[in-house]
Amino acid sequence: MVTKSSSGEPSSPLSHTDVASGTTGEVVDTTTAPPAQGTAGAEVQQTPLNIAELNAPDGNAPVEINDDDDSFDGDSAIGSDVGSDTTSLTSSVLHYKYENGRTYHAFREGQYIMPNDDKEQDRLDLVHHVWRLILRGELHRAPISKTVQRVLDIGTGTGIWAMEFADEFRSTTVIANDLSPIQPTWVPPNLQFETDDAEDEWLYTQPFDYIHIRNMGASIADWPKLVTRSLENLQPGGWIEIQEHAIEMHSEDGEVPRNTVQWLSEMEGAARTFGKDMNVAKNLGGYLRDAGFEDVHVDKYKIPLGAWARDKRMKEIGRFQQAYRATGLPHII
Ligand SMILES: C[S@@+](CC[C@H](N)C(=O)[O-])C[C@H]1O[C@@H](n2cnc3c(N)ncnc32)[C@H](O)[C@@H]1O
Repeated sequence: MVTKSSSGEPSSPLSHTDVASGTTGEVVDTTTAPPAQGTAGAEVQQTPLNIAELNAPDGNAPVEINDDDDSFDGDSAIGSDVGSDTTSLTSSVLHYKYENGRTYHAFREGQYIMPNDDKEQDRLDLVHHVWRLILRGELHRAPISKTVQRVLDIGTGTGIWAMEFADEFRSTTVIANDLSPIQPTWVPPNLQFETDDAEDEWLYTQPFDYIHIRNMGASIADWPKLVTRSLENLQPGGWIEIQEHAIEMHSEDGEVPRNTVQWLSEMEGAARTFGKDMNVAKNLGGYLRDAGFEDVHVDKYKIPLGAWARDKRMKEIGRFQQAYRATGLPHII
């Protein structure tokens, strides 16, 4: 993760967007791995690994700063047309908890800290856009083929990734779960949304070829268990891909202000008190290896926070990232 900070210290540890003055940035990790061969006992043909495809840009390469541009606008150009309707659910699951003007999931109430209302759904769709920009328009890094049969998206949120994946992979059965039944009802026919707790026992009767997990850092209490379950539910030769934001700030041209570092550390501490590891990105490679996955790849990407980069693409990513971060802060603080 990378950041460039302004020379002056901010007056409040929570004003990290001010601190950034268009200069802070983050790094995200995408971790991909196929399971060990023969784990499910079947004869398998492993997807050949395309290393060139998996080689991400160096996460440590400096991002050039556009010194002429001090814009720090947090405008969002992305909207959301997702609905909040669903069918075939018991009504209790839809009786969302209402607190401080926001709604929260009712199923397994209190397990996840963020709201599930329209505002939050817009934020999730915004971060989906950031991920697509980071991955240069792709939906995945793992070298899966177009004929992949069964795919699971864990903690799907608005379901935007799953819908776009199902649209692109027409012959794939996509199952996507979440604690909140906020996903739309009009979806591609090869996609099924389920209201489920991914930390419960999994009752899938057929294995998957690809499991996708994104932005679940503050959601999962037991990552090693989730990863082991994923392995048990993957075909030999299948892939898991986990994409997470590292909860770190770095600077391209100086130190990160102390109060920003302290704020991040206290936020992480608060999540730990709640039983969740918000900064799980750095541990994922180890969890996957420990569970028995092979060919584990960890790719790191810098994300500028704000429109300070000289490069057009990085500038755009930074602008959207800033908008996404700014809309998420009020729930956390
Ligand atoms: C930050 S959002 C990420 C959504 C989506 N993966 C994305 O990247 O757009 C986290 C989502 O995980 C869901 N979630 C949290 N804990 C969960 C659990 N134990 N089982 C299933 N979903 C969970 C939340 O309801 C929320 O929609």
